[in-house]
Amino acid sequence: MLKFYIETVGCQMNVLDSELAHSSLVQSGLVPTTNRNNADVILFNTCSVRQHAEDKIYSALGRLKHWKVTKPYGVLGVIGCMAQKEQKIIFQRAPHVDLVLGPGQLELLSETVHQLLDEKLQQNRVDREVDQKMESGKKLLVSLKRQEHRHAEVVGSFRLFDPVRNPEARYNRFQAMVRIMFGCDKFCTYCIVPSVRGPEQSRPPQEIIDEIQTLVRQGVVEITLIGQTVNSYRYKTGGKTTLLSDLLYQVSKIEGLQRICFVTNYPRGMDDDLLYAVRDLPKVAKHLHVPAQSGSDAVLRRMKRNYSASEYRELVSRIYATIPNVSMTCDFIVGFCGETDEEFLQTVELVQDCRFKNSFIFKYSERRGTKSAELYADDVQESVKKIRNNILLEIQDKISLEQNQQFIGKTVEILVEGTTKQFETGDVQLSGRTSCDRIVVFDAPDNRLIGQFLKLNIYDAAPFTLFAKQPADS
Ligand code: 5AD
Ligand code: SF4
Repeated sequence: MLKFYIETVGCQMNVLDSELAHSSLVQSGLVPTTNRNNADVILFNTCSVRQHAEDKIYSALGRLKHWKVTKPYGVLGVIGCMAQKEQKIIFQRAPHVDLVLGPGQLELLSETVHQLLDEKLQQNRVDREVDQKMESGKKLLVSLKRQEHRHAEVVGSFRLFDPVRNPEARYNRFQAMVRIMFGCDKFCTYCIVPSVRGPEQSRPPQEIIDEIQTLVRQGVVEITLIGQTVNSYRYKTGGKTTLLSDLLYQVSKIEGLQRICFVTNYPRGMDDDLLYAVRDLPKVAKHLHVPAQSGSDAVLRRMKRNYSASEYRELVSRIYATIPNVSMTCDFIVGFCGETDEEFLQTVELVQDCRFKNSFIFKYSERRGTKSAELYADDVQESVKKIRNNILLEIQDKISLEQNQQFIGKTVEILVEGTTKQFETGDVQLSGRTSCDRIVVFDAPDNRLIGQFLKLNIYDAAPFTLFAKQPADS
């Protein structure tokens, strides 16, 4: 029984891709393991959005050299965005890697892994026979042979890959992600995604509905529709166009499904039909993630985001005015090329005004192959990026706390997701999320409530957490 292990970093696309890769490897007869050292196949599903993520993968690959010595037939693979972006560079920097496969070719994964395993097992047998005859030359022989192994390199065109969903491959049985579109056409100047994930392609609505129905039959109650710019979803057939709002109406009709989330939105194209669907459909989560990236028009122009700060503010006002009790979250990049103190202060003002539930703040990381790397100097010092990052985080934390404090004394409904603590008494702390994506924790005697919707009373709040108790009558 050959075992595989997948390590995932990056966004929800990668989490889903790893689930699908897991399912297809299981289908092909391999067995999953949670112990990396025991595995015969180790795959890294990688992210290229920031340099830091790539550096971490290279050092993890470096640490696995010894694993290849103990398991010469083992397959070490790099999949995901970094595989697409780096391609041959991975083989140059980590020659012990056997397989590099981009996100558009995942359907070839199990076939390629098996091919490599077969070849290497065969090769290993030959190595061993020769070794027995050449008592002293073993190490050299093995390493030379290994260099000759055929590297599998599958990068290039994009093919859709959403096969049968296997509940064993998911982080839990009651939540799942469903891809509704691939790729991105926006080409923000700092972003590597369009060149590694290819052009925007929306999946046919019926295929999406069928997949969700399968998931619901497997016990899923919450789905997250995912796409790089999910609100650009648009599928045309026979003179009829289905938009994200139409899809939400269709998905809402699926019996047994209780909550529908969707990420990530692009600020342009957040039209009223979508906001009305979020407002009017009880199953649709009252939470919108709409990255602004900056509050400065000049920076937004250099980023080629195609909207101004005031247009973004208008959007936020429209969202709050249309959808009662909605929460918003945001992404920002600080220290983008040429960002002055004044430009940064405009972002500070935007964060202060928009009252996000929380914000994800990133220091600009230059990516080879992007327009900003070609056009502008990465001229904001790392120390300045760090300070700006901390300033924004501090402001946002204060807002997050103020917002969460408004829940004290209120009753909320959550989907219980998992355990966060185990007490010595045997009790556990469980955690879940509200429809507006707030994390709620509470104590319970056991894990039995996981996967259920539950009403709770909030008695305390921190910036990222609400503390709750079960009502006395429950
Ligand atoms: N540097 C820093 N952050 C980036 N993001 C995308 N590209 C970069 C980059 N080159 C951030 C954006 C995006 C989030 C997923 O990652 O804020 O919304
Ligand atoms: Fe990257 Fe911009 Fe596309 Fe988002 S919208 S994936 S930031 S290019």
